[in-house]
Amino acid sequence: MQIKEQLYEGKAKKVFRTDDPELLVVSYKDDATAFNGLKKGMIAGKGVINNRMSNLLMQRLEKCGIPTHFVKQLSERETVVKRVSIVPLEVIVRNIAAGSFSQRYGVKEGERLAAPTIEFSYKNDELGDPLINDHHAISLGLASADEIETIKKYAFAVNEQLKVFWAKCGVTLVDFKLEFGRLSDGTIVLADEISPDTCRFWDSSTGEKLDKDRFRRDMGGVEDAYTEIMQRLTNHL
Ligand code: TMP
Repeated sequence: MQIKEQLYEGKAKKVFRTDDPELLVVSYKDDATAFNGLKKGMIAGKGVINNRMSNLLMQRLEKCGIPTHFVKQLSERETVVKRVSIVPLEVIVRNIAAGSFSQRYGVKEGERLAAPTIEFSYKNDELGDPLINDHHAISLGLASADEIETIKKYAFAVNEQLKVFWAKCGVTLVDFKLEFGRLSDGTIVLADEISPDTCRFWDSSTGEKLDKDRFRRDMGGVEDAYTEIMQRLTNHL
């Protein structure tokens, strides 16, 4: 397989065409943004960690019957993925109140929810990724009713698998964001990444934050947190 020209550069990754129309190569950057790109920075070594972590977790999920875009890791920062058209939804699953959920509903950060919950944001930078419900997504033509059902089923299944896995690593999976895509035949698969950029990871005993909130909230120790969470994962492979 040959890597061809860059198709797209996002906030955290670049995407390249290949000589196979069904395959793309993503390259993970160290760039970090928050608040819809308002805050910009760099987290040294993040691209290497996110690439490896996302690939390891997606391979694990595949084994549990959740289809993903993952094909093969090429290098420290580069991975071959299946070409998808992204469903323009951020799919957020939460186990514990934090971040925007805590703010919106007045629930103290750290409170365990009575049951895991799911929410959707419309991926649209100009609008600031507004929260929408599943009926809005269908009415806006972002996904069909069947696709939404599949996405919800996969998102909760990802939660069940990852919650148990991270617990073994001494990490509480607080919440996370997923993105899904359609293969050329319309099959829905998990896409984008699963990493400390897109998940909240808290040390199970101390509550220490081991994720991008350290960057979002100017807490310091960002690189160390990324290194620590990756170490926890590799200790339990
Ligand atoms: P929130 O509490 O800020 O809505 O974030 C929920 C989860 O989604 C959290 O794990 C961080 C992740 N997330 C992203 O991956 N990308 C984003 O743009 C936002 C706002 C959150």
